[in-house]
Amino acid sequence: MRRKIRLLDRRDLAAVLAIESASFTLPWTKEMMAAEFEKDYAFFIGSFKGDILAGFCLSWVLFDEGHIADFAVHPSFRRKGVGGGLLDAALEEMAKRGGRNIWLEVRLGNRAAQALYRSRGFVPAGLRKNYYTDNGEDALVMQLTLEKGCKNDIIQHAKEE
Ligand SMILES: CC(C)(COP(=O)(O)OP(=O)(O)OC[C@H]1O[C@@H](n2cnc3c(N)ncnc32)[C@H](O)[C@@H]1OP(=O)(O)O)[C@@H](O)C(=O)NCCC(=O)NCCS
Repeated sequence: MRRKIRLLDRRDLAAVLAIESASFTLPWTKEMMAAEFEKDYAFFIGSFKGDILAGFCLSWVLFDEGHIADFAVHPSFRRKGVGGGLLDAALEEMAKRGGRNIWLEVRLGNRAAQALYRSRGFVPAGLRKNYYTDNGEDALVMQLTLEKGCKNDIIQHAKEE
């Protein structure tokens, strides 16, 4: 099936929320998510299978600091390369916007996401104790320094699988 990666806008909010609630024990609310579409330093990238949003990545870039703020693939589309493609596209877009020093937090027990981040060069940079309010789990802080320039033009390009 045709896969397409593109920037999202407010019309994609409902699809983003459906993936969010299927993916997290502490999902962002509709209000929180809607507010992200209004911020000039925030952007969403989505990966589509046909017309269906399979996953999204919300990132922030402020000066040369980048942050992966929210990132999920719908359970029915996992382990098919969607997350990796999204992360690559988000990093590329962050680089275009001047991001160089990229940070994220991930649950200490979330080995799947950590494996994905490590595969893209992120390294552990510290712990935030009791970061998650549902179970008091620690957050692992991971960091990546992006090289200047972008190798590929991933966004807006459709791919055949
Ligand atoms: C983390 C997540 C986004 C990965 O998405 P995905 O589409 O399944 O990822 P991919 O298929 O592109 O996998 C890329 C790599 O990530 C790692 N990975 C992904 N899922 C994994 C799992 N369940 N166990 C171990 N490694 C895993 C592997 O290294 C994988 O490469 P491989 O398939 O060649 O082994 C997805 O599991 C998800 O949405 N999880 C719930 C939300 C979440 O944890 N978000 C991150 C918050 S910080």
